[in-house]
Amino acid sequence: MGSDFEARLSDKAGYVEDILQKFLPREEGYAKTVIEAMNYSLLAGGKRLRPVMMMESYKLFAGSVDNISELWPFMAAMEMIHTYSLVHDDLPAMDNDEYRRGRKTTHAMYGAGMATLAGDGLLNYAFETAIMGSANGDPKFVNALKVLSQKAGIYGMVGGQCADIVSENRTDIPADEMKDILHYIDENKTGALIESSLMIGAIIAGADEDEVRMIEKAGSNVGIAFQIQDDILDIEGDEALLGKPVGSDIKNAKTTYVSLYGMEQAKNKVKELSDEALGILDELGFKDSFLGELFSFLIYRKK
Ligand code: IPE
Ligand code: IPE
Ligand code: MG
Ligand code: MG
Ligand code: MG
Repeated sequence: MGSDFEARLSDKAGYVEDILQKFLPREEGYAKTVIEAMNYSLLAGGKRLRPVMMMESYKLFAGSVDNISELWPFMAAMEMIHTYSLVHDDLPAMDNDEYRRGRKTTHAMYGAGMATLAGDGLLNYAFETAIMGSANGDPKFVNALKVLSQKAGIYGMVGGQCADIVSENRTDIPADEMKDILHYIDENKTGALIESSLMIGAIIAGADEDEVRMIEKAGSNVGIAFQIQDDILDIEGDEALLGKPVGSDIKNAKTTYVSLYGMEQAKNKVKELSDEALGILDELGFKDSFLGELFSFLIYRKK
């Protein structure tokens, strides 16, 4: 694996970058400021993992890239939704963080009001983009839009963010209940968008319902592992590499896998969940795949 894998991942992130460029809203008219703020956060250089996962899932199920352009609007939409979640997550009323993707957060640049609107704008523009890309009316696109909308909302990311905030500073909740809540948080605030990325790739490639359910489960495992690793890096990580502050969780008295189970168990859990996800890929018949290598790579990621 090693650097060859990282070079291939970086090529794929570059491919996503080119797609984002195709779908960016133009910075003009009286809404220019909010569009600038949207593009500022979108082009700040994230890892683009969700669109890459969507594309790799599509390739595995489709077995070819001949029609990959049908996925582009959904790849762009996913990154817009993820970026909006970060812009709002950083707001003073939420995690109150000043750095993201190696530069000042959107609210630090444009003010909290404009950052709120930039998040709203990105969320809506994601759907404008995905719906425009579904115009030929093939039912698989309706199915993909359903997954995109559900997993971003109250039965997904927004639901998880709600429980994340409600669980700040709580010493009154019994440990067992807190563990259930934490599972809900990780599965939803982070798992949901990773699940939907893999699912949408599968759905648009023509996968059947059972296959979509299996890739959803793999996504859930990888998503929870991804958040646990994020919580580990919030303690042990390097700010310069991460491009965002460490110590945010302690500052906000968050409940995380590390705070409830300790560092060692957290690290074991990341590995265990990722291995489970790899097992599901095997069951699907995708034994040696870039997606599998990516799942393994993420276990030890430093950013
Ligand atoms: C950060 O996601 C937020 C979490 C869900 C942990 P990423 O680590 O994928 O952030 P970017 O997109 O690379 O900035
Ligand atoms: C946020 O989790 C996940 C989102 C849905 C945005 P965190 O609050 O831990 O993410 P970071 O560490 O700020 O990226
Ligand atoms: Mg948060
Ligand atoms: Mg945060
Ligand atoms: Mg974090």
